[in-house]
Amino acid sequence: MRNLQEKYSGWALVTGASAGIGEAFARYIAAAGMNVILVARRKERLEKLAEEIEAENNVQALPVPLDLTGDGFLEKLTQKIVGKEVGMLVNNAGFGSVGLYARNDAQREVDMVKLHCLAPTILTHHFIRQMMVRKKGAIIFVGSIVGYQPVPYISTYSATKAFNMFLGKSLWYELHKYHIDVLALAPGGTKTEFQQVTHQSASSIAASPQAVVGSAMKALGKKPAVVHGIHNKIWAFAGRFLPVRMSLSLHGRFMRATTKSDAG
Ligand SMILES: NC(=O)c1ccc[n+]([C@@H]2O[C@H](COP(=O)([O-])OP(=O)(O)OC[C@H]3O[C@@H](n4cnc5c(N)ncnc54)[C@H](OP(=O)(O)O)[C@@H]3O)[C@@H](O)[C@H]2O)c1
Repeated sequence: MRNLQEKYSGWALVTGASAGIGEAFARYIAAAGMNVILVARRKERLEKLAEEIEAENNVQALPVPLDLTGDGFLEKLTQKIVGKEVGMLVNNAGFGSVGLYARNDAQREVDMVKLHCLAPTILTHHFIRQMMVRKKGAIIFVGSIVGYQPVPYISTYSATKAFNMFLGKSLWYELHKYHIDVLALAPGGTKTEFQQVTHQSASSIAASPQAVVGSAMKALGKKPAVVHGIHNKIWAFAGRFLPVRMSLSLHGRFMRATTKSDAG
């Protein structure tokens, strides 16, 4: 494991650290020597994780309970981390929503756009300026393989994940000359609490969050984007060559069959 503290220095801020991929990122980064700021809504989860991380590693862990869809979240966050330089940012917090767009709860769709698009935009813009001055840093955007093409019945989710992938890849180019490593990470199905939140069941070939984080950390600083897992790589690559109507039809029929999304 590389020493991240030497490479990026300061603290790593991980959003969505109370579960799944975010928790796995926080544990990996702490084991690689960096102090971590843990952001999510569930306070007890974050406090317990912070205790475990500090007991297992020679680093500090700061829990910051926060709803990233709330107005003025950046001010609340910056007040809690005064004096801490953020050398690594992991934009990971997210949730899914499955169903016919017109019947989905409108506020939930809006919150998803806030959490997946607005929050990473605000956080990244805030922290890159410090990184540019220091000429080092790392930013990871957790996208998804469904960010490679539009997928009906997870329409908003798929669109927000395309946003994450596009922003991450473009910033990789822009920030390269400032020695800031940017990565757009595309996991496929991963065994986390994500499926519980969307009331779906995880596929039998779903990856572990630790494996997804391993792929990300191997790719960080070497390329703009990584898709985790060989079958996901094939799926994302093949999708580029399908005419859009065929892709929409295939994905739409698959999603309707597996999620019964527009039944009735
Ligand atoms: N699991 C998959 O199959 C899969 C596949 C592709 C991509 N991804 C992406 O991976 C990322 C992590 O998902 P996961 O699979 O690890 O899901 P997860 O286990 O459900 O974790 C989601 C995390 O996001 C946090 N979160 C949710 N809403 C929040 C809010 N309003 N403010 C702050 N934090 C919030 C949750 O914490 P609290 O509830 O405590 O706030 C939790 O820590 C997401 O961006 C997801 O789109 C997942």
